Amino acid sequence: MSVNWTLPFDEKILPEDKRNLLPIGDYHKVHKTSVANYQQFWAGVAQELEWYKPWNRILDDSNPPFYKWFPGGELNASQLCLDRHYNTWRRNKIAIIWEGEPVDNDGPRKVRKLTYGDLYHEVNRIAHVLRETYGIRKGDTIGLYLPMIPEFPMMMLAAARLGACFTVIFSGFSADSLAERLVDADAKLLITADAGLRRGNMIKLKEIADKAVENAPCMEKIIVVKHVGNDIAMNHDRDAFLHDITRNVPHNVYVEPEKVASEDPLYILHTSGTTGRPKGQVHDVGGYLTLLHATMRWVFDVKDNDVYWCTADIGWVTGHSYIVFGPLMEGVTSLMYEGALDYPEPDRWVSIIERHRVNILYTSPTAIRSFMRNGEDWVKKHDTSTIRLMHSVGEPINPEAFRWMLRHVGHDKVPFGSTWWMTETGGILVSHTPGLYMVPMKPGTNGPAIPGIDADVVDDHGQTQKPLERGYLVIRNPWPGMPLTIHKDPERYKDVYWTRFPGSFYAGDYAVRDNDGYFWMLGRADEVIKVAGHRLGTYELESALIQHPAVAEAAAVAVPDEVKGEVPVAFVILRAGHTSRPELEKELHQWVRERVGPVASLKQIFIVSKLPKTRSAKIMRRVVHAVVLGQPIGDVTTLEDEASVEEVRRAYMELKQEIGVQSQGSA
Ligand code: WT7
Repeated sequence: MSVNWTLPFDEKILPEDKRNLLPIGDYHKVHKTSVANYQQFWAGVAQELEWYKPWNRILDDSNPPFYKWFPGGELNASQLCLDRHYNTWRRNKIAIIWEGEPVDNDGPRKVRKLTYGDLYHEVNRIAHVLRETYGIRKGDTIGLYLPMIPEFPMMMLAAARLGACFTVIFSGFSADSLAERLVDADAKLLITADAGLRRGNMIKLKEIADKAVENAPCMEKIIVVKHVGNDIAMNHDRDAFLHDITRNVPHNVYVEPEKVASEDPLYILHTSGTTGRPKGQVHDVGGYLTLLHATMRWVFDVKDNDVYWCTADIGWVTGHSYIVFGPLMEGVTSLMYEGALDYPEPDRWVSIIERHRVNILYTSPTAIRSFMRNGEDWVKKHDTSTIRLMHSVGEPINPEAFRWMLRHVGHDKVPFGSTWWMTETGGILVSHTPGLYMVPMKPGTNGPAIPGIDADVVDDHGQTQKPLERGYLVIRNPWPGMPLTIHKDPERYKDVYWTRFPGSFYAGDYAVRDNDGYFWMLGRADEVIKVAGHRLGTYELESALIQHPAVAEAAAVAVPDEVKGEVPVAFVILRAGHTSRPELEKELHQWVRERVGPVASLKQIFIVSKLPKTRSAKIMRRVVHAVVLGQPIGDVTTLEDEASVEEVRRAYMELKQEIGVQSQGSA
């Protein structure tokens, strides 16, 4: 567990606008009713979407945990995000305000504004080429490896329009990680860009994609979006530029949206765990869009004149749900920024808020902590008075960061929450809902579960935990937005989420509930590492390390980091004949970056001669983690050699003194 802040369970803060204020007791009553009839409740929400064909059952629960929402119903995500607005006054409303990161720090800012009409036409043109030239149909999967440019959402919408499935790979992943995910998803077409920009650096996506495709035999074609304009190699039998293949497609071409079943897959998105390969979470169409529709209204309270900004990358689920499908379905004007929030100057993000008059902000605790570290003077240079609502996501928010953000950006008067959810849940499940009812804020809480969601904190036996006692977070009812399965591995889906507490979804988080019934999520209960709010698998780091010829064994664990929450470090045992030397450590760092991607930069590599193991020679990562956190190592009756614990501790303490790695807890 990575949190040891003193949590202010009793501190209550009210937003200035008290229109929707509800005493928490009354909220619980409303919530209870919604949960008691959760199927009817969610059907009421789903009815607000537009369906080609109504469902014949709300929930098919005949084969748990493989639930199907709204079976028999037919709809299309692209139709809901585009056509529905195109046929109204919103045709000329701005859908996406895009701001690019300048190539040259002193160069002009690049801003593109696309109306719902523009987006509609572009998506139709792209869908036309995908279907006519590339033969993409329902049943196919498209891989997307793109920087934060407007073509990214366009591709997702074009795939959805054709009823095809897509799978996004975050642009911070390497060729190997990309190939692994493309193969797992059986993608046959990859859409990428020449390069992306981040902090003035060029990330040569096409070059990485070329390497990945060598190891992804399922891959037939590549489409390249020309973004940066760098020189790239093109294999003319396989690769084409988007602008070339769309050049002769008429502006007003119309591709009829495919009527897909509610329970058809919309996308596959991989998440990491402590064991095994990344898990491809498969999301449906009808349930997923229902949850997004609800949460855009309840949590973000979006209105037609708002500018809404989610600072995530579309490479992660937050971007899928709350940059692309959620906001566009609601007809919102949504801001999309290509680069780093503090580049080229620490006030880039506040300058964006000021220049585009942002009203609703969705960001992460890591971002907030880095803003804090740069100091509020950067914030004061800009007018943030347009902000009327804020939320954070991805990791627990420390009360200090909460108060800082509320004071300096929200002027101590706007609703500000920490929305809990995960790749698996599809959308927000535990959060304040200022668009519906507002209960008092507390710095660091996630608030109560949203209506229709029966969340609970349980002990080891699945019994509801007492208030203020730590337990495991579970969701007790099926919810729209839940995964259909893990791609190609339904057994694993059952095992990971539905076996520990039968009948309930096990999230893998520690949580407490306070006396008001607010949830406080306290971090992962497994050994998953959360770097800047993103899940990084220990397995991926370790398996990359042991592929190196000098490495015999490796254990990756998280250490606390002031800004990113946690960062990974690795303990490594070398093969006979290899000795620890600075060049080797450097090489291993580079090796991991190349195998997994820059997203997986290790903070430190410790060379040790032994690691804590069970008698059956399994590395006890839990013990390694406890040692670096300075916590009691717990039950070690299965430990084979106690001296290994000392060895890990010594290696860690020596380096800690040298470089000043922070520690926490009782350390
Ligand atoms: C894990 C899921 C879905 C958004 C991005 C992360 C942690 C997420 C919060 C929050 C405390 C949070 C949990 C969860 N988490 N939001 N508001 N407060 N913890 O998605 O990579 O699938 O990670 O993120 O530990 O299990 P993800």
